[in-house]
Amino acid sequence: YASQPSPLPIPDPTYSDDDEYANVDWDSLGFGLMPTDFMYVTKCSAGQNFGHGQLNRYGNIELSPSAGVLNYGQGLFEGTKAYRKENGQLLLFRPEENAIRMKIGAERMCMTAPSIDQFVDALKQTALANKRWVPPPGKGSLYLRPLLLGSGPVLGLAPAPEYTFLIYASPVRNYFKEGSAPLNLYVEEDFDRASQRGTGSVKTISNYAPVLMAQNRAKSRGFSDVLYLDSNSKKNLEEVSSCNIFIAKGKTISTPAISGTILSGITRKSVIEIGSDLGYQVEERVVAVDELTEADEVFCTGTAVGVAPVGSITYQNKRVDYKTGSGTICQELCKTILGIQTGSIEDKKGWIVEF
Ligand code: COI
Repeated sequence: YASQPSPLPIPDPTYSDDDEYANVDWDSLGFGLMPTDFMYVTKCSAGQNFGHGQLNRYGNIELSPSAGVLNYGQGLFEGTKAYRKENGQLLLFRPEENAIRMKIGAERMCMTAPSIDQFVDALKQTALANKRWVPPPGKGSLYLRPLLLGSGPVLGLAPAPEYTFLIYASPVRNYFKEGSAPLNLYVEEDFDRASQRGTGSVKTISNYAPVLMAQNRAKSRGFSDVLYLDSNSKKNLEEVSSCNIFIAKGKTISTPAISGTILSGITRKSVIEIGSDLGYQVEERVVAVDELTEADEVFCTGTAVGVAPVGSITYQNKRVDYKTGSGTICQELCKTILGIQTGSIEDKKGWIVEF
């Protein structure tokens, strides 16, 4: 990711509520953590409903050393972005989709999840409480990171007896250090990201540390990230460590179908809909790694990543280059989705929550 020069160690407690903006160099935002003023926190016993959350000062949380999340990885996370409009209103993009995904993930991980309404309301509260950290229009967004943690103590392997739902926030802009320049991916063959009937489709924290080794190795060889293949045949595309993948050939856009090993990205789902509105044939199917040789374009999608062009992919020591920049499908999709997210393109789909 693109880290910031140096994250502020603590939020400035002397700010005035009247300050429209925090003291941030908005032009050098990357995707590094910048602590903000408040975080939303609520807890509940297993199987109960979460109570009304509260906005606490952003800071460390106390956990039992035997918390389920620390010992057995019983945790889920989400990510969404709040954008500031010229008129000062804030915008969220399809936040109920994140809530639904957390609910489905919680079922798989035997956790208690917040309701859809509570989740969306908590996002709004967190964004508003940290409004001075929402970048000016055109300078990025406030990334909101909901966490669901098995916070109760366990020793034997079992679901935790207590859950914590928390949301913190950080202003961000480009995810990759490449900025908006094309990514160079490496097709990973030594490691798998997910296996059939595992948790690859769930946004569990335990899917993310295992990709670090392959990612580090690829970065040390000058690549932006790795592209995973299916663990069965090693012949079909899955996803990148932190985002979904699409290929385009002519007027057809294809992406690997959600099969249980691929994360059901909200940007992915939106690009599929926008792509077909724009007149492309969009296919969710098995996409063979061999198709990378013939594709005109490749791009990644994700909340953090947005719609990001891929300039090259290296597979078995062969590098294939792709079309990027003006006139590409990737650019058209990126402009359209970002336009809807930031309020410069009319939302005709009811995707935007303005507050
Ligand atoms: C996101 O795109 O919001 C994610 O959750 C991916 C994460 C690795 C930054």
